[in-house]
Amino acid sequence: MCGIIGYNGKKQVEPIIIDALTTLEYRGYDSAGMAVTNAKLNRTDVYKCAGRVKDLEKVCESKTIDSTCGIGHTRWATHGGVCDANAHPHSQGNVTVVHNGIIENYKDLIDEFNLEGSLKSETDTEVAAAVLNYYYNETHDPKKAITKAVKRLRGTFALVIMFADIPDVIYSIRNVSPIVATLSEEGAMLASDLTALCRFTDQYFVVPEYTIVELHKDSIAMWTLDGKEMQPEYLTMSWEKNSAEKNGYPFYMEKEIMEQPKAIRDTIAGRTKSGIPNFEADQIPDSLFTECERICVVACGTAMHAGLVFQSLVKTRLNMHIEVELASEFMYSDPVIDEKTLVIAVSQSGETIDTLEALKYARRKGAKSLAIINVKGSSIARESDYVLYTNAGPEIAVASTKAYTTQLSIFYLLVYKMAHIRGIMNDDEVRECIRNLKRVPEVIGSVLDEKNAIHVIARGVLEAKDLFMIGRGLDYSILQEGSLKLKEVSYIHSEAYASGELKHGPIALITDNTPVVAVVTQTRLMSKELSNIREVKSRGAQIALFIKADLMQQSTREFDTFVLPNLPDELMVFPASVALQLLAYYVSSDKGFDVDKPRNLAKVVTVE
Ligand code: G6P
Repeated sequence: MCGIIGYNGKKQVEPIIIDALTTLEYRGYDSAGMAVTNAKLNRTDVYKCAGRVKDLEKVCESKTIDSTCGIGHTRWATHGGVCDANAHPHSQGNVTVVHNGIIENYKDLIDEFNLEGSLKSETDTEVAAAVLNYYYNETHDPKKAITKAVKRLRGTFALVIMFADIPDVIYSIRNVSPIVATLSEEGAMLASDLTALCRFTDQYFVVPEYTIVELHKDSIAMWTLDGKEMQPEYLTMSWEKNSAEKNGYPFYMEKEIMEQPKAIRDTIAGRTKSGIPNFEADQIPDSLFTECERICVVACGTAMHAGLVFQSLVKTRLNMHIEVELASEFMYSDPVIDEKTLVIAVSQSGETIDTLEALKYARRKGAKSLAIINVKGSSIARESDYVLYTNAGPEIAVASTKAYTTQLSIFYLLVYKMAHIRGIMNDDEVRECIRNLKRVPEVIGSVLDEKNAIHVIARGVLEAKDLFMIGRGLDYSILQEGSLKLKEVSYIHSEAYASGELKHGPIALITDNTPVVAVVTQTRLMSKELSNIREVKSRGAQIALFIKADLMQQSTREFDTFVLPNLPDELMVFPASVALQLLAYYVSSDKGFDVDKPRNLAKVVTVE
């Protein structure tokens, strides 16, 4: 969702802002804007428009912008439609702001501060600017004004603020919505997202909540609301400098699919000792896994689908009670949570507000918590008792791919770890599982080598309006993700069904040439699965079959088939998932869509 950048340094700010906003495009947005200090005229100049960052560039082209201090924003509309006036930044009097989040009490503030008639937009953000301006006029002190104003705001916010008569400082304050900042040789910078900073430095810090940050040209100062100075706690980014670039691929989604062997290797690396899963380096005590009686996974979208695979594994390997909950539903469903519950929050970004709120709720109920996160230092990582980072590197495409398979990798390590310390599997059994898990990157590599064959299958579904994906057991778990992937990037209506459930309704939708994607990787379910495939075939369905090599037989050759390289059944989710990612990718790119930025979707979802 919305992206923020702020820069104060020696260089011209306009290209830095445009560049950073382009990097942040992947978050999803509908308008773009920037505000820069005009030191000569002692004012803040604002340029903004509905549309893409390219449109903002055009707006700026005709202007002479000579400034080394400014802020930029990509807006995802929440309050007020998509139009120039609602784009950020918003100015009121001396104050100009950009904002991520939602000011929930903005209507009350309009009444209380008598703002009706003076607002130029329909946004909650402009109300925050007006409140800040009110207190600035009252105090003539930026820190006092910010302190008084934020005490009046309810909701989540990351605010970045410029005062026209203080041309050489950028201020920021946040609640929940993240801000990261850094000081490099280029100057002082802040952003909503690490990807905007990673080309400048590998050092950054997460701005603590309710802390006033001042960006000066060559320093950063931080203050608590009661005036105590604070020192930033710098973290080191593990991402390589060019890891957020496309590196020759037409789309990030393809690049990220191709990166999975390395991402999985990096995620498993350092997390085994003598062939047994080991989380000492992550500072996770064994007691976390021995003392819990039930597990509850909370997550959204793709991350939740990774949880579904874990659910199957926990049931078969650990015989334990486990629930996988949509984070957005979690706290409204009166979940059974107590001190014996281990809550696992899964999130690529670590900022998904529903997942964050679900985690907080579970902790309030006494649960122990573990987060599986890709972005270091993110809000969910900081909220959780323990964190296991997936080392996937930055994921830019909205459709999540390498985050999913690295989350799966962690889940496999967790299951084997728990089975081992609970005495369910002995050393040798666990070592054998880990040996096989370590083969996953290579096996995925051979699916990637055969990607053209999947491209051919993709061409067969380009014209489809509706598509069904069917499978049983673990195959059904991954098909829910495969189906989501196809929906997200190709706009084909796709549904995943447990094959055995077809005859209870969905089979009514199968007619001549209805495309059906079937995944068959589980030996014990194969014969039932093949019967289900024939049921739909005999009703006219056009079958695309993804089948484990060992399960191929003469009769399966009648379908469009992609043969998945062998791994033990339990691990077949990896090659099968990657094949389905490629299918979605090729359908989208062949249809000429902007694969990385599907309509209406955002990479980081920071509203409930
Ligand atoms: C958005 C993204 C999805 C992602 C979901 C959860 O909807 O478009 O790709 O799976 O959020 O995101 P998270 O960062 O929590 O994994």
